[in-house]
Amino acid sequence: MSIESLTVRHVRIIEHAEIEPSPGVNLITGLNAAGKTSLLEAIDILSRGRSFRTHRLDRLVTAGESKLTVSARLHRPHPPVINIGLERSRAGTQIRIQGRAAESVAELAALLPVQALHPESHQLIQGGAAHRRAYIDWGTFHVEQRFLSVWRRYYRALRQRNAALRSAAPPEAVRAWHYELSETGQLVDRYRKDYLQALLPVIDQYSRMFPSATQIQLHYRRGWPEDGEHDLDAALERELLADLQRGHTRLGPHRADLEIRLNGRPASGTASRGQQKLIAAVLRLAQTQLFTARTGRACVFLIDDLPAELAPGNRQLLLQALAQLSLQVFITAIDIGDLELSMWPQAGLFHVEHGHIYRMI
Ligand SMILES: Nc1ncnc2c1ncn2[C@@H]1O[C@H](COP(=O)(O)OP(=O)(O)OP(=O)(O)O)[C@@H](O)[C@H]1O
Ligand SMILES: [Mg+2]
Repeated sequence: MSIESLTVRHVRIIEHAEIEPSPGVNLITGLNAAGKTSLLEAIDILSRGRSFRTHRLDRLVTAGESKLTVSARLHRPHPPVINIGLERSRAGTQIRIQGRAAESVAELAALLPVQALHPESHQLIQGGAAHRRAYIDWGTFHVEQRFLSVWRRYYRALRQRNAALRSAAPPEAVRAWHYELSETGQLVDRYRKDYLQALLPVIDQYSRMFPSATQIQLHYRRGWPEDGEHDLDAALERELLADLQRGHTRLGPHRADLEIRLNGRPASGTASRGQQKLIAAVLRLAQTQLFTARTGRACVFLIDDLPAELAPGNRQLLLQALAQLSLQVFITAIDIGDLELSMWPQAGLFHVEHGHIYRMI
């Protein structure tokens, strides 16, 4: 799968741009503040309805404008061409797929799966558990078709139970949600575990490619005790009185986490920023590879400011691994410098100046 053409209107400094990227690697160069990251954000917005830099619309829409639009013609195996588009304004988000209005951003994400490495990627290791749940859920969503609907049901029930807890409702009103929560919560957990079981060996394989990342260990925590009671229903019951005092639900898959260790120590507390970025790169690469192995399709891979992300040796290894996966890749950098891109048969080179994008090759 690749983006054949991309149209961007009013995303940050980019007033209007139309590009026809290469199906292989695309290098986007330009000075600081030219609009390189803005272009990658536009691609991310089209996939997820938000960007890796912010979910705040007012930051993304060009100052003085009221809405942004991003649209693309995608090249896919079946059917060969799909047109998708997204418009965001204060009134909300509108999505079009093949000219028809679509319901949710998840439909876009399914058509245009995007992976990104960017200056905040170390948050996957250093940041809160929500980053790691989003990582697991991205992969689980793409390989397990039943995941999205149970995930939505779980979070709907969780909101209801939390509302009952906050309003100090009688225990019966809180308990009324336990059946739905434990039915869906245990499925969410099972789909995540199945996915991680397939993912962990791939992470292991990629970590061996990078001499400084060979010792990555991952341990999944499901969000409620693994030992003793296995049933989420029983755990919710046990916590009911304490939850009523807290006003929220303490246990469940909404509290799941992935413990990441490097050389036997928690990577969040001990790994250097560079090591954390490398771990993030290994985790994203593994997910990308598994996505292709499971679905027969490819994601689009974005790397914002590659030279700042990884040291030259690791950068080269990452590019080699991406080239082997035959993905469409977008890389930003201030200049081409020492980026070795000869492993890609087709490369596009774009230059960005004050939000205008020019194709050089
Ligand atoms: N909502 C907005 N409206 C207009 N301009 C914006 C908006 N948000 C950001 N900008 C401006 O867009 C410019 C380009 O930002 P961008 O981050 O894309 O540059 P860049 O080429 O990635 O730069 P760097 O090399 O420093 O990472 C910046 O000058 C920024 O101030
Ligand atoms: Mg940038």
